[in-house]
Amino acid sequence: MKCIAVVMAMNSEASPIVTLLNAEPLAEIPFMPFQLYEAHRNDCRIIISVNGRDKRHGVDSIGTQTAALNAYVVAERFSPELMITAGTAGGWIQRGAEIGDVYVSDQKFVHHDRRIAIPGFTEYGIGSYPAVPTGALARTLNLKQGIVTTSNSLDENDDDRRLIAETGGVVKEMEAAAVAYVCDLMGIPVMALKAITDLVDHHAATADQFAANLRMASEQLAEKLVQVVDFCAARSIA
Ligand code: ADE
Repeated sequence: MKCIAVVMAMNSEASPIVTLLNAEPLAEIPFMPFQLYEAHRNDCRIIISVNGRDKRHGVDSIGTQTAALNAYVVAERFSPELMITAGTAGGWIQRGAEIGDVYVSDQKFVHHDRRIAIPGFTEYGIGSYPAVPTGALARTLNLKQGIVTTSNSLDENDDDRRLIAETGGVVKEMEAAAVAYVCDLMGIPVMALKAITDLVDHHAATADQFAANLRMASEQLAEKLVQVVDFCAARSIA
């Protein structure tokens, strides 16, 4: 591959991989909040684009809006052969997750908070955008695999729970389906790499688990992301 793009939501999620790859900052894009970095692995260009700070609220621009915009701008500018939506996520004890596990996406990307009870729109809301097959990668790098499910909320309510059970979601986060939507439109293969910061079915509050484990999970993510990038850079999608 000549170019792999990694899109990420939070600065703290990105900082270990930026350091590990020795990535150099790129110029800002007018009007856009993104922070861009470039690194090289063998002959492959690695673009890391972080959603950046929300100019109104001063926090990282997490969630689907900026994720879609970021994916689109990066796709247009750099024409990557592969897009990786990387970051942190929630998992479930019942589905075998442990804090710090790194999952790679499986099968499809879905939304669990777009409930539209009108014929035809129900499926549109869920999305089901294809994930690039990652079986060989997961086996080689010893990564767990699972369906990634996206919403714009950190917590989950009863409706979310029902939809996640229906779609088979195993990894819960806030950007991947939006990135996969853009990649589906633009014909770019996409995978997610997500490190678990919190267990949704644990008694401790999600936000507390997230804060306690963000740094460790982001370091685990960086370690695996380098391996994933090296694995992919040396191969074609096929
Ligand atoms: N990011 C990290 N943990 C998450 C969770 N439980 N839900 C959504 N996004 C997350």
